Amino acid sequence: MHVVMVSSEVAPYSKSGGMGDVVGALSAALVKAGVAVTTVSPRYGSVDDEGLVDTDVVVRARLGTTEQEATLRERVVDGVRHLFVEHGIFADRQGLYGDQNGSFGDNHLRFALLQRAALEAARNLVDDPAPVFHLHDWQAAGLPAYLDHFYRPLGFFRDSPTVLTLHNPMHQGRLPHRFFDDLDLPAHWFSPAGFEWYGDLGLLKCGILHADQLTTVSPGFAWEITRPEGGFGLDALFRGRFADLTGILNGIDTEVWDPTDDPHLPAPFSADDLAGKRLCKSALQDELGLVRDPEAPLMGSVGRLDPQKGTELLLESIPWILDQGAQVAVLGSAAAAHRRFEAELRGLAARFPGRLSVTVGFSEGLAHRIEAGADLFAMPSLFEPCGLNQLYSQRYGTLPIVRRTGGLADSVEEGRTGYTFDAPTGYAFRGAVHRALAQHGTPAQAAIRDRAMRLEVGWSTVVGRYVEVFERAIEARRAG
Ligand code: ADP
Ligand code: GLC
Repeated sequence: MHVVMVSSEVAPYSKSGGMGDVVGALSAALVKAGVAVTTVSPRYGSVDDEGLVDTDVVVRARLGTTEQEATLRERVVDGVRHLFVEHGIFADRQGLYGDQNGSFGDNHLRFALLQRAALEAARNLVDDPAPVFHLHDWQAAGLPAYLDHFYRPLGFFRDSPTVLTLHNPMHQGRLPHRFFDDLDLPAHWFSPAGFEWYGDLGLLKCGILHADQLTTVSPGFAWEITRPEGGFGLDALFRGRFADLTGILNGIDTEVWDPTDDPHLPAPFSADDLAGKRLCKSALQDELGLVRDPEAPLMGSVGRLDPQKGTELLLESIPWILDQGAQVAVLGSAAAAHRRFEAELRGLAARFPGRLSVTVGFSEGLAHRIEAGADLFAMPSLFEPCGLNQLYSQRYGTLPIVRRTGGLADSVEEGRTGYTFDAPTGYAFRGAVHRALAQHGTPAQAAIRDRAMRLEVGWSTVVGRYVEVFERAIEARRAG
């Protein structure tokens, strides 16, 4: 079996959130399980040149009104072949999807080019004539249309199935109708059976209808998206494809996130020896300008500042949490539309020096140090397809306080491996924080920490579930 991963993010080369982590780590785990994997992702300006080798493949595609050429460069790491699409529309930009002015206006073209390049890569560089195309989110979801229009009529990829993984179906690539003309596809694809979505262009919608199999990143979320309250308007489509929809809880990269051997930390630690975790805490307090106090409970938060993540709930609760004698360390950044979260957090930090630290920006190293140095971790998400930070937190003995939704509900158990709450309100969140703080330093909480740190959260146990889905997709395609 050969899997071609088509994704707008592949960590460590590109990452704005969990999808990059997942595609990177799943690819490596599949290779370990004996599956050949080629990833295809853009070479953004931030992807460095080192180790990249030219291929002789040139991708030609009409983008909007002009013919464009892109090239492919490659790099093989741990048996995974990573291909990067080189073109100015990726390389000459700050940011993956947008900059301080908002989303780029040509994202539909940029990711059409990614999909066209992935198909050309598979045709020219992959030995298997029928690879599985594993597509990630709306940026790759139109590929079944290109497969059908440009390749299958010529006899290519007749037995190649497509599997679409939904990481975040709130983002749907929904654009005005006229953008369809840029996609280089015949008019009949703009219909209810294709890209048409209530009169608009729906890039994700087309993939939901046409992929041979669908997966999403937790069993709980697979159910939620079939309900009107949780389907982002797509619930009827998900109900229609329920038999082909599998929820698979994400794993984490246990080499990158390993408290016994993490280059970002001042000291290693493990469930059997927590002395290093205490050092990590005091070093973090020093680094962030928090009062160095080994007894004060320290709550961390790392992630996108976004309504999805419950940033509102966190903001309204911080003064109360500090009032309980706890410290709080926040690391995050907001897209242009939610910049006010950054300003509000900074404003709070100015009011509570030494007790609240706010770092606006993206820092892999600090993310690791907060996971290691904190006692508790806040994830009051309004919805969460899976979430990775609660898994990192558990492994680092930092108990997650999560809203019981999506993958958070599937991975955190109240009073056993963390703390949970239900209502999407600051009041309910503070209730869970209160329970966590009341147990601070007790043997009961030490037992929860110990259990959380020993959970099996790697990819090796999950990878077989993906292989089963790929096999189902292959069968479905063969059965025609
Ligand atoms: P999402 O993909 O919805 O943003 P996840 O929890 O699945 O949420 O994954 C987020 C990933 O991005 C984690 O690896 C997290 O550590 C990382 N991350 C998010 N924001 C930052 C930041 N400001 N600095 C460093 N890492 C971040
Ligand atoms: C998305 C989701 C997040 C998930 C990640 C990786 O960004 O918001 O919950 O963990 O994808 O699948």
